[in-house]
Amino acid sequence: NIRISSSEYSGQDVLLVTTSDITKRLMSEQQLIQASKMATLGEMATGVAHELNQPLSVIKTASSFITKKVRKNEAIQDEILKTLAEEIDSHVDRAARIIDHMREFGRKSDVEREKVRVNETLEKALEIFNQQLKLREIKVVKEFEKDLPPILADSNRLEQVFINLLINARDALEEKSDKADNKGQSKKIFLKTGFKNGLVTIEVKDTGVGIQKSILDKIFDPFFTTKKVGKGTGLGLSISYGIVKDYGGHIHAESQEGVGSNFVVHFPVPSEAK
Ligand SMILES: Nc1ncnc2c1ncn2[C@@H]1O[C@H](COP(=O)(O)OP(=O)(O)OP(=O)(O)O)[C@@H](O)[C@H]1O
Ligand SMILES: [Mg+2]
Repeated sequence: NIRISSSEYSGQDVLLVTTSDITKRLMSEQQLIQASKMATLGEMATGVAHELNQPLSVIKTASSFITKKVRKNEAIQDEILKTLAEEIDSHVDRAARIIDHMREFGRKSDVEREKVRVNETLEKALEIFNQQLKLREIKVVKEFEKDLPPILADSNRLEQVFINLLINARDALEEKSDKADNKGQSKKIFLKTGFKNGLVTIEVKDTGVGIQKSILDKIFDPFFTTKKVGKGTGLGLSISYGIVKDYGGHIHAESQEGVGSNFVVHFPVPSEAK
């Protein structure tokens, strides 16, 4: 970090050059990012447990069937055996994919840029939360632009942004439905992507409690939270803000108290990808 300014020294015009070592700051930022990622991983774990249950129960059904047949000394028709083997194979692959995804996410990522298709990253973030959103009767409405140009970012870090926004939307929906007069109201998250004026736009909108006008300009501040101690650290949005900025993007929130919130993210598209 270097700054130059003109000044005067002993009656002469001089240039004043100051430098500051930001290694420490970068390191603690990196640690903060990693800590928040670990918190997100904790959230993801519940989703992953649910997601793993499905392939496991398919494999269990198939293996129980085979065991029973073998015990009774009964033959299994070739056609059925083939189907069972294929089912087991594809569900083991599915389980392995889910575990890979978790591992990949927890890995420390450098600030590297690669071509990222945001629709795919959104799907990945959603995959982990699908089950838990379903259990809470939260409906996800997707409206993805098919011909979206790639942006330059890191898919894992971007996924973290989307997960943070999804968790916040989920919490806002839950907070609203916890209030007595809102029981039974439909809970929805709208996910939208688009491409306009050279920018890729991602919107995560909910029909939750909304955000008071008086705090709308504080929500991206580090450690700002309205959640109970132990529930929120107030880091989700500030870290998301930093990640979006790192890739030249912009994030802002629109909200109406009692109606819902919309988080809008814009990213520039590298000129050769347009
Ligand atoms: N979708 C939303 N609807 C309503 N309020 C929101 C929404 N997203 C964020 N907020 C408000 O902004 C605050 C800050 O959000 P942020 O994600 O940074 O922290 P947190 O969710 O409280 O904690 P953490 O994300 O660290 O677990 C929240 O406490 C909440 O008051
Ligand atoms: Mg949050």
